[in-house]
Amino acid sequence: MENSHAGVALVTGASRGIGRAVARRLARDGMAVALTYRVRGEEAAAVVAEIEREGGRAMALQADLSVLTDLSGLFDAVEERLGRLRVVVANAGNVVFKPIAEATHVDFEQAFIANTRGTLLTFSEAARRLGEDGRIIGISTVLTIAPKANAGLYAASKAAVEQLVKALARELGPRRITVNAVAPGPTDTEMVPPARREEAPKLTPLGRLGKPEDIADVIAFLASEESRWITGQIINANGGLA
Ligand SMILES: NC(=O)c1ccc[n+]([C@@H]2O[C@H](COP(=O)([O-])OP(=O)(O)OC[C@H]3O[C@@H](n4cnc5c(N)ncnc54)[C@H](OP(=O)(O)O)[C@@H]3O)[C@@H](O)[C@H]2O)c1
Repeated sequence: MENSHAGVALVTGASRGIGRAVARRLARDGMAVALTYRVRGEEAAAVVAEIEREGGRAMALQADLSVLTDLSGLFDAVEERLGRLRVVVANAGNVVFKPIAEATHVDFEQAFIANTRGTLLTFSEAARRLGEDGRIIGISTVLTIAPKANAGLYAASKAAVEQLVKALARELGPRRITVNAVAPGPTDTEMVPPARREEAPKLTPLGRLGKPEDIADVIAFLASEESRWITGQIINANGGLA
């Protein structure tokens, strides 16, 4: 199944949810995939086993991006075992829903450290290592274009990710590395609270909650040769919600 042209991919936060679907899809496209998790090692091991059962190659590594400030060891471990990275998907993130009037510095840190700082550090290590035809992909949210009460902190942490994408695309263009983000709408993972699950199909022209695979397919395109002329973009994948 492995295709030597497909190369090696790192997907952060892939023990479940969207990251898991991305890891499985990239492996199906022939990539050797390193996936990270924060605490759910057994679920990450199960994703590795799923990929291997389908004939792919994968490894799982623990990495808490709220704590880790130097990602060089993580990237070294991946490249030593699987080879030179071509694709890096900074997917790990967490959600904070709180009215701004109640927000504290702890809430700020919870949103910005994992989502923004984690993405920044993943992007900068990728920027130092990737070669020509590399692909760097971040994850934003529909909430940056369809604001909601109580989602300000989370949306702000993702709006910052969008700006990192736009600047990095310009920094790495001369090396023919593309940098983009996908902005999902509500997607069927543990991250989405019950009320949002109920309202999402009503707000979405396509009439349902997104599936992790809906997002993984877009990321697979951005990771492929076919997306070579797309860089610095935020691709909306939200069933038409916004
Ligand atoms: N689901 C949605 O509706 C939606 C919409 C828009 C954007 N997004 C974005 O899509 C990405 C994936 O979300 P999801 O819905 O798949 O989430 P999820 O199901 O909650 O999974 C989150 C993943 O990230 C890992 N993770 C969480 N905090 C981390 C940290 N501090 N350091 C390292 N890894 C961490 C988790 O590891 P463990 O399993 O070990 O905890 C898990 O693998 C996130 O960036 C999210 O903001 C999601």
